[in-house]
Amino acid sequence: MEQRGAHIEFIHAGLVFEDGVERLRALRDLSISVSPGQSVALIGPSGCGKSTTLRLAAGMLAPTEGDVLVNGSPVAKPRKETALIPQDLGLLPWKTALQNAALGLIIRKVGKSQAHELAAAALAQVGLAGFEQSWPKELSGGMRQRLALARALAMDADLLLMDEPLSAVDALLRESLQDLLLDLWRERGHTQMLVTHSIEEAVFLGERILVFSSRPATLVADIANLRMGTAGWRDSAEFAALCNEVRAALALSHLPGNDEKAS
Ligand SMILES: Nc1ncnc2c1ncn2[C@@H]1O[C@H](COP(=O)(O)OP(=O)(O)OP(=O)(O)O)[C@@H](O)[C@H]1O
Ligand SMILES: [Mg+2]
Repeated sequence: MEQRGAHIEFIHAGLVFEDGVERLRALRDLSISVSPGQSVALIGPSGCGKSTTLRLAAGMLAPTEGDVLVNGSPVAKPRKETALIPQDLGLLPWKTALQNAALGLIIRKVGKSQAHELAAAALAQVGLAGFEQSWPKELSGGMRQRLALARALAMDADLLLMDEPLSAVDALLRESLQDLLLDLWRERGHTQMLVTHSIEEAVFLGERILVFSSRPATLVADIANLRMGTAGWRDSAEFAALCNEVRAALALSHLPGNDEKAS
Protein backbone atom coordinates (compact mmCIF):
# COMPACT_ATOMS: atom_id res chain seq x y z
CA MET A 1 0.00 0.00 0.00
CA GLU A 2 1.25 3.43 -0.89
CA GLN A 3 1.74 5.44 2.29
CA ARG A 4 0.20 8.80 1.67
CA GLY A 5 -1.39 9.93 4.90
CA ALA A 6 -0.67 13.34 6.38
CA HIS A 7 1.32 13.83 9.57
CA ILE A 8 -0.49 15.95 12.15
CA GLU A 9 1.05 17.50 15.22
CA PHE A 10 -0.47 19.54 18.00
CA ILE A 11 2.40 21.07 19.96
CA HIS A 12 1.32 22.61 23.27
CA ALA A 13 -1.69 23.90 21.37
CA GLY A 14 -4.22 26.06 23.16
CA LEU A 15 -7.27 27.93 22.03
CA VAL A 16 -9.19 30.76 23.63
CA PHE A 17 -12.32 32.04 21.89
CA GLU A 18 -12.62 35.77 22.38
CA ASP A 19 -15.22 38.11 20.88
CA GLY A 20 -14.34 41.28 22.77
CA VAL A 21 -16.92 40.60 25.50
CA GLU A 22 -16.62 36.91 26.32
CA ARG A 23 -13.51 34.85 26.71
CA LEU A 24 -13.73 31.08 26.67
CA ARG A 25 -10.86 28.63 26.80
CA ALA A 26 -11.62 25.55 24.70
CA LEU A 27 -8.19 23.83 24.63
CA ARG A 28 -5.22 23.83 26.94
CA ASP A 29 -1.71 22.57 26.27
CA LEU A 30 -2.70 19.85 23.83
CA SER A 31 0.19 17.83 22.46
CA ILE A 32 -0.63 15.01 20.04
CA SER A 33 1.31 13.57 17.13
CA VAL A 34 -0.65 11.50 14.64
CA SER A 35 1.66 9.57 12.30
CA PRO A 36 1.03 9.35 8.56
CA GLY A 37 -1.65 6.74 7.93
CA GLN A 38 -2.74 6.41 11.54
CA SER A 39 -6.38 6.18 12.57
CA VAL A 40 -7.17 7.83 15.88
CA ALA A 41 -10.44 8.15 17.74
CA LEU A 42 -11.20 11.16 19.96
CA ILE A 43 -13.62 10.76 22.81
CA GLY A 44 -14.49 13.06 25.69
CA PRO A 45 -17.31 14.84 27.50
CA SER A 46 -19.79 16.92 25.53
CA GLY A 47 -18.57 20.48 25.05
CA CYS A 48 -14.97 19.68 25.96
CA GLY A 49 -13.37 20.81 22.68
CA LYS A 50 -13.38 17.85 20.27
CA SER A 51 -14.95 19.68 17.32
CA THR A 52 -12.61 22.58 17.99
CA THR A 53 -9.66 20.18 17.79
CA LEU A 54 -10.83 18.90 14.39
CA ARG A 55 -11.33 22.45 13.13
CA LEU A 56 -7.77 23.25 14.14
CA ALA A 57 -6.50 20.18 12.28
CA ALA A 58 -8.57 21.28 9.26
CA GLY A 59 -7.03 24.77 9.31
CA MET A 60 -10.42 26.40 9.91
CA LEU A 61 -9.17 27.81 13.21
CA ALA A 62 -5.69 28.81 14.34
CA PRO A 63 -4.38 28.03 17.83
CA THR A 64 -3.94 30.99 20.17
CA GLU A 65 -0.97 29.22 21.80
CA GLY A 66 1.43 26.60 20.50
CA ASP A 67 1.30 25.09 17.02
CA VAL A 68 -0.80 22.82 14.85
CA LEU A 69 1.26 21.39 12.02
CA VAL A 70 0.33 19.26 9.03
CA ASN A 71 3.34 17.67 7.37
CA GLY A 72 5.55 19.98 9.41
CA SER A 73 3.92 23.28 8.41
CA PRO A 74 1.36 25.36 10.28
CA VAL A 75 -2.11 24.88 8.78
CA ALA A 76 -2.90 28.51 8.16
CA LYS A 77 -5.91 27.77 5.96
CA PRO A 78 -7.91 24.72 4.84
CA ARG A 79 -5.85 22.41 2.60
CA LYS A 80 -7.31 20.83 -0.49
CA GLU A 81 -6.05 17.39 0.60
CA THR A 82 -8.05 17.48 3.85
CA ALA A 83 -11.65 16.28 4.03
CA LEU A 84 -13.75 17.27 7.04
CA ILE A 85 -17.18 15.96 7.90
CA PRO A 86 -18.43 18.66 10.27
CA GLN A 87 -20.80 17.84 13.09
CA ASP A 88 -23.56 19.82 11.36
CA LEU A 89 -22.69 18.00 8.07
CA GLY A 90 -22.42 21.19 6.02
CA LEU A 91 -24.93 20.08 3.36
CA LEU A 92 -26.36 22.74 1.09
CA PRO A 93 -30.18 22.51 1.04
CA TRP A 94 -30.44 23.97 -2.47
CA LYS A 95 -28.24 21.30 -4.00
CA THR A 96 -29.19 17.70 -4.79
CA ALA A 97 -27.50 14.75 -3.10
CA LEU A 98 -25.27 14.28 -6.13
CA GLN A 99 -24.31 17.96 -6.22
CA ASN A 100 -23.65 17.93 -2.47
CA ALA A 101 -21.50 14.79 -2.77
CA ALA A 102 -19.54 16.44 -5.60
CA LEU A 103 -19.09 19.76 -3.79
CA GLY A 104 -15.67 19.09 -2.28
CA LEU A 105 -14.36 18.12 -5.71
CA ILE A 106 -15.94 21.09 -7.48
CA ILE A 107 -14.38 23.46 -4.92
CA ARG A 108 -11.08 21.76 -5.69
CA LYS A 109 -11.56 22.51 -9.40
CA VAL A 110 -12.26 18.97 -10.58
CA GLY A 111 -14.31 19.11 -13.80
CA LYS A 112 -18.06 18.70 -13.36
CA SER A 113 -18.51 15.41 -15.19
CA GLN A 114 -15.59 13.74 -13.41
CA ALA A 115 -16.75 15.18 -10.07
CA HIS A 116 -20.26 13.82 -10.63
CA GLU A 117 -18.90 10.42 -11.62
CA LEU A 118 -16.77 10.18 -8.46
CA ALA A 119 -19.64 11.51 -6.34
CA ALA A 120 -22.06 8.92 -7.75
CA ALA A 121 -19.58 6.14 -6.95
CA ALA A 122 -19.19 7.45 -3.38
CA LEU A 123 -22.97 7.64 -2.97
CA ALA A 124 -23.21 4.00 -4.04
CA GLN A 125 -20.50 3.06 -1.51
CA VAL A 126 -22.57 4.46 1.35
CA GLY A 127 -25.80 2.87 0.11
CA LEU A 128 -27.36 5.96 -1.46
CA ALA A 129 -27.52 4.84 -5.10
CA GLY A 130 -30.88 5.95 -6.47
CA PHE A 131 -31.01 9.08 -4.30
CA GLU A 132 -28.74 11.21 -6.49
CA GLN A 133 -31.49 13.68 -7.37
CA SER A 134 -33.01 13.92 -3.88
CA TRP A 135 -32.78 17.13 -1.87
CA PRO A 136 -31.21 16.96 1.59
CA LYS A 137 -34.61 17.71 3.19
CA GLU A 138 -36.02 14.56 1.55
CA LEU A 139 -33.41 12.36 3.26
CA SER A 140 -33.52 10.94 6.79
CA GLY A 141 -30.96 12.04 9.36
CA GLY A 142 -28.92 8.88 8.82
CA MET A 143 -29.08 9.31 5.03
CA ARG A 144 -27.84 12.87 5.37
CA GLN A 145 -24.92 11.61 7.45
CA ARG A 146 -24.14 9.07 4.72
CA LEU A 147 -24.33 11.84 2.13
CA ALA A 148 -21.79 13.89 4.11
CA LEU A 149 -19.61 10.78 4.33
CA ALA A 150 -19.88 10.29 0.55
CA ARG A 151 -18.77 13.87 -0.02
CA ALA A 152 -15.64 13.24 2.07
CA LEU A 153 -14.91 9.85 0.50
CA ALA A 154 -15.22 11.24 -3.03
CA MET A 155 -12.36 13.62 -2.27
CA ASP A 156 -9.81 10.84 -1.71
CA ALA A 157 -8.09 12.96 0.94
CA ASP A 158 -4.79 12.30 2.73
CA LEU A 159 -6.42 13.50 5.95
CA LEU A 160 -9.98 12.55 6.83
CA LEU A 161 -11.49 14.36 9.81
CA MET A 162 -14.86 13.10 10.97
CA ASP A 163 -17.03 14.66 13.65
CA GLU A 164 -19.51 12.05 14.91
CA PRO A 165 -20.23 10.98 11.34
CA LEU A 166 -22.43 8.00 12.20
CA SER A 167 -24.38 9.20 15.23
CA ALA A 168 -27.77 9.15 13.49
CA VAL A 169 -27.70 5.77 11.76
CA ASP A 170 -29.22 2.58 13.15
CA ALA A 171 -27.00 0.06 14.95
CA LEU A 172 -26.54 -2.44 12.13
CA LEU A 173 -26.00 0.15 9.42
CA ARG A 174 -23.59 1.90 11.75
CA GLU A 175 -21.51 -1.27 12.03
CA SER A 176 -21.52 -1.75 8.27
CA LEU A 177 -20.41 1.87 7.74
CA GLN A 178 -17.70 1.38 10.35
CA ASP A 179 -16.57 -1.65 8.32
CA LEU A 180 -16.58 0.55 5.20
CA LEU A 181 -14.50 3.22 6.94
CA LEU A 182 -12.03 0.56 8.07
CA ASP A 183 -11.75 -0.93 4.56
CA LEU A 184 -11.30 2.47 2.90
CA TRP A 185 -8.70 3.53 5.44
CA ARG A 186 -6.76 0.31 4.80
CA GLU A 187 -7.02 0.67 1.02
CA ARG A 188 -6.16 4.33 0.82
CA GLY A 189 -3.66 4.79 3.63
CA HIS A 190 -4.95 8.21 4.67
CA THR A 191 -4.64 9.57 8.19
CA GLN A 192 -7.92 9.80 10.02
CA MET A 193 -9.25 11.46 13.15
CA LEU A 194 -12.69 10.39 14.26
CA VAL A 195 -14.67 12.14 16.97
CA THR A 196 -17.26 9.87 18.50
CA HIS A 197 -19.33 9.51 21.66
CA SER A 198 -19.47 5.74 21.12
CA ILE A 199 -16.83 3.83 23.07
CA GLU A 200 -17.33 0.79 20.81
CA GLU A 201 -16.83 2.89 17.68
CA ALA A 202 -13.64 4.38 19.12
CA VAL A 203 -12.30 0.91 19.93
CA PHE A 204 -13.31 -0.45 16.52
CA LEU A 205 -11.81 2.37 14.44
CA GLY A 206 -9.02 3.84 16.56
CA GLU A 207 -5.51 2.45 16.51
CA ARG A 208 -5.18 4.94 19.31
CA ILE A 209 -7.98 6.22 21.46
CA LEU A 210 -7.42 9.74 22.72
CA VAL A 211 -9.50 10.58 25.76
CA PHE A 212 -10.06 14.30 26.37
CA SER A 213 -10.78 16.03 29.65
CA SER A 214 -13.75 18.28 30.23
CA ARG A 215 -13.23 21.81 28.86
CA PRO A 216 -10.65 23.13 28.39
CA ALA A 217 -9.76 19.91 26.65
CA THR A 218 -6.42 18.35 27.26
CA LEU A 219 -5.31 14.78 26.80
CA VAL A 220 -6.06 12.53 29.76
CA ALA A 221 -5.33 9.17 28.11
CA ASP A 222 -3.75 7.91 24.89
CA ILE A 223 -4.71 4.27 24.70
CA ALA A 224 -2.97 1.99 22.18
CA ASN A 225 -5.15 -0.48 20.32
CA LEU A 226 -2.84 -2.95 18.62
CA ARG A 227 -5.63 -5.38 17.66
CA MET A 228 -7.63 -2.74 15.78
CA GLY A 229 -8.63 -4.05 12.36
CA THR A 230 -7.70 -7.69 13.03
CA ALA A 231 -10.14 -10.51 12.23
CA GLY A 232 -12.88 -11.02 14.81
CA TRP A 233 -11.82 -7.93 16.77
CA ARG A 234 -15.33 -6.58 17.40
CA ASP A 235 -16.52 -9.87 18.89
CA SER A 236 -13.46 -10.65 20.99
CA ALA A 237 -13.10 -10.59 24.77
CA GLU A 238 -10.18 -8.16 24.36
CA PHE A 239 -12.49 -5.72 22.54
CA ALA A 240 -14.85 -5.69 25.50
CA ALA A 241 -11.92 -5.31 27.90
CA LEU A 242 -10.56 -2.33 25.97
CA CYS A 243 -14.03 -0.73 25.95
CA ASN A 244 -13.97 -1.01 29.74
CA GLU A 245 -10.54 0.60 29.85
CA VAL A 246 -11.77 3.54 27.74
CA ARG A 247 -14.91 3.81 29.88
CA ALA A 248 -12.74 4.04 33.00
CA ALA A 249 -10.57 6.76 31.43
CA LEU A 250 -13.70 8.69 30.43
CA ALA A 251 -14.99 8.49 33.97
CA LEU A 252 -11.82 10.30 35.05
CA SER A 253 -12.04 12.88 32.28
CA HIS A 254 -14.05 15.41 34.30
CA LEU A 255 -11.15 17.33 35.74
CA PRO A 256 -11.86 19.44 38.82
CA GLY A 257 -11.83 23.15 37.98
CA ASN A 258 -12.48 22.54 34.28
CA ASP A 259 -15.73 23.55 32.59
CA GLU A 260 -15.55 27.03 34.10
CA LYS A 261 -16.34 29.91 31.79
CA ALA A 262 -12.98 31.66 31.53
CA SER A 263 -9.46 30.31 31.35
N1 LIG B 1 -16.82 29.76 17.45
C1 LIG B 1 -16.91 29.69 18.79
N2 LIG B 1 -16.97 30.80 19.55
C2 LIG B 1 -17.04 30.74 20.89
N3 LIG B 1 -17.06 29.58 21.57
C3 LIG B 1 -17.02 28.44 20.89
C4 LIG B 1 -16.94 28.41 19.46
N4 LIG B 1 -16.92 27.12 19.03
C5 LIG B 1 -16.98 26.37 20.15
N5 LIG B 1 -17.03 27.15 21.26
C6 LIG B 1 -17.07 26.68 22.65
O1 LIG B 1 -15.93 25.86 22.85
C7 LIG B 1 -16.27 24.77 23.71
C8 LIG B 1 -15.90 23.47 23.00
O2 LIG B 1 -16.79 23.29 21.89
P1 LIG B 1 -16.69 22.04 20.91
O3 LIG B 1 -17.73 22.25 19.87
O4 LIG B 1 -15.30 21.88 20.47
O5 LIG B 1 -17.08 20.85 21.89
P2 LIG B 1 -17.27 19.27 21.57
O6 LIG B 1 -16.30 18.54 22.44
O7 LIG B 1 -17.20 19.04 20.13
O8 LIG B 1 -18.75 19.00 22.15
P3 LIG B 1 -19.89 17.97 21.63
O9 LIG B 1 -19.45 16.61 22.09
O10 LIG B 1 -21.12 18.43 22.37
O11 LIG B 1 -20.00 18.10 20.15
C9 LIG B 1 -17.74 24.90 24.04
O12 LIG B 1 -17.85 25.49 25.32
C10 LIG B 1 -18.28 25.83 22.96
O13 LIG B 1 -19.32 26.63 23.48
MG1 LIG C 1 -18.59 18.52 18.78
